[in-house]
Amino acid sequence: MQVISTIAELRTRLAKERAVAFVPTMGNLHEGHLNLMRMAREHGDCVVASIFVNPLQFGPSEDFDKYPRTLEADCAKLQGLVDVVFAPSVDEMYPARQSVFVEPPPIASELCGAARPGHFRGMATVVLKLLNIVQPKVALFGKKDYQQLHIIRRMVAELNLPVHIVGGETVRAQDGLALSSRNQYLNDAERAEAVFLSRTLQGMRQAILQGERDIERLQQDVVSALVARGWQVDYVEVRNQSDLLPAGRGQREWVILAAARLGATRLLDNVEVTLA
Ligand code: PAJ
Repeated sequence: MQVISTIAELRTRLAKERAVAFVPTMGNLHEGHLNLMRMAREHGDCVVASIFVNPLQFGPSEDFDKYPRTLEADCAKLQGLVDVVFAPSVDEMYPARQSVFVEPPPIASELCGAARPGHFRGMATVVLKLLNIVQPKVALFGKKDYQQLHIIRRMVAELNLPVHIVGGETVRAQDGLALSSRNQYLNDAERAEAVFLSRTLQGMRQAILQGERDIERLQQDVVSALVARGWQVDYVEVRNQSDLLPAGRGQREWVILAAARLGATRLLDNVEVTLA
C-alpha cells in the first residue's frame, strides 16, 4: 500500500491502471468506510482511498477544526484493503482560493442543506476535483449520507462524468446506531440515547408498511417524541428515493430521512421503505 500526498505523484502512480475503484473519505475510518473499501475490490483491480477533510464543505460555525484527523491509524486500517491512499494537504487541493464551484441541484438546499447552507456545493466541488484527479472507473459512496449520494449521482449524470457510482448499505453498531466519525463526540448518556434515532425510523417504516398514509402527522408525532427526549430535530421526512422530493402517492420507493442533534452532535440516519 502506498500513501501519496501530491496530485502529480498520484497521477504518475495511476497512469497505467485501467480499472481504478475509488472511495473518497474524510478519514477517521470505521467499519462503514472499510466496508466500502472491500466492496471496491469487486469493482476494480486498483483500489484507491482518499483521506481529506475538505474545508469547503464545512460552515463557519461547524467542526472543521475539531474533526478527528487520525491518518496513521487510518493507514493501519487500510493496509491490505487498498492499494493507494491519497492524503493531500489543504494547500495541495486548494493552492489558491477556489473560485470555480459545482452548483448542486435545488434539492441541495433542502433536508441537510437547509441547516448547512453551502455544504453540498463544497462537497460536490471536492468530489468532482477528486474524480478528476483519480479518474476512477467506479466510485463508491455510502447510503448513510443518502442526500450526498443522490447529489453525486445527479452531478455525474448531468455533467456526463465517465464514472460509475456505487452505493453501499449503511453499516451500524450492534444497537442500530449508524456508524459515523462524529459518534465519538457523544458522551455516555448521549451515546445511550442515540439509538433512539434509528429505532424511530424503523418504527415509522413499520407504520408505513402497515398502511399509515398520513405522512404529515407521522412526521410531526415523531419530531415531538424526539424533542420530548431532548433531541433538537433538523428534520424527519419521508421522501421518494428517486428524486428526494416529498413522498408521492404514485411512488412506491420511499426513504425516511432524519437529522437531529444530541447536545452539540448532529446525527444523520435514513431507512428505505418499499411499498408492496
Ligand atoms: P465521510 O463522512 O468520511 O464518508 C466517506 C464515505 O463513507 C461516504 O460515502 C459515506 O457515505 C460513507 N459512510 C460513512 N459512514 C457510513 C456508514 N455507517 N455506513 C456506510 N457508509 C458510510 O462523506 C464524506 O466523508 C465526504 O462528504 C466526502 C464524500 C469524502 C467528500 O468530502
